Parts: sequence; C-alpha cells; structure tokens
Amino acid sequence: MSTPASSDRTAEPSRRSVLAAGIAGAGALTLAACGGGSSSSAPKPHAGQSVAKLDDIPVGGAISAQLDGDPVIVSRPTSSTAACFSAICTHQGCTVRPQGGKAFCPCHGSIFNALNGKVVQTPAPSPLPAIAVEVKNGEVVTTS
Ligand code: FES
Repeated sequence: MSTPASSDRTAEPSRRSVLAAGIAGAGALTLAACGGGSSSSAPKPHAGQSVAKLDDIPVGGAISAQLDGDPVIVSRPTSSTAACFSAICTHQGCTVRPQGGKAFCPCHGSIFNALNGKVVQTPAPSPLPAIAVEVKNGEVVTTS
C-alpha cells in the first residue's frame, strides 16, 4: 500500500519512510512522542525539563539536543507538536544525526524516521527509544 507522496526530499523517499511519516502525523495531534515503545533504553528524565525551543525545530524536521548529558533528537511532526528520541543508534550505539525528517547513523548506515523513531533502513534492529515530551509555552519539555 503505497501512497503517492508529495514530500520527496532528495534522494530516496522510500515507501516505508513515507508511510511512517504519515503514521507519525496521524498520531501526533496534541502532544507527541511515545507511549509506544516499551523496550527503551532512553534517558529517564524528570518531568518539566526543557529540551529545546519549538521554534528552533523546522516543521517536519528535527534537531540534535542533550538531555541530562545524553544525546537526543527533538522533532516537530506538526507546527504545534514535538517528539523526542534517544539519539543512540539501536544497532551498536553510535549517535545519529538528524537531517530533514530523518536521522542518519554515520557508523553502518541505519536511517530512522526522526518524527516517530522508526527504522527506515537497517541494520538498526529497533526504533529509537522515545522520550515523552510536550510543548509548553513554546518549549519542548519532558513529561516523565
Ligand atoms: Fe548505527 Fe551501526 S551503530 S548503524
């Protein structure tokens, strides 16, 4: 079930990434992020920590940030929502780098959807662990 997509960025807009982006958009209406993956080795922040300013994140894109000294990516699926994921690749632990709506691992080529953490290209075996966040007063803050 491939849907025609209007957002091909540069090289290879795979069906999976397009599909995943659609799912992320549908699931991220008010807050965003997570709840889903329970097998997380994500940082466990306390609630209310600011991760980024929403306006620093391009809509449909993501930026790198730090949470308690751990690398994370903070994405903005829609203009008013944000999501946050560990930036540690689930393959062998390299730090992924966001670019557009994806996050690229420099070590062995895994690619993740930066809006929902899902694997777009292996060898990563599982999604990036999600960190629960919400948007409050223009800031992306942790909720747990
Ligand atoms: Fe990321 Fe291997 S550590 S692809």
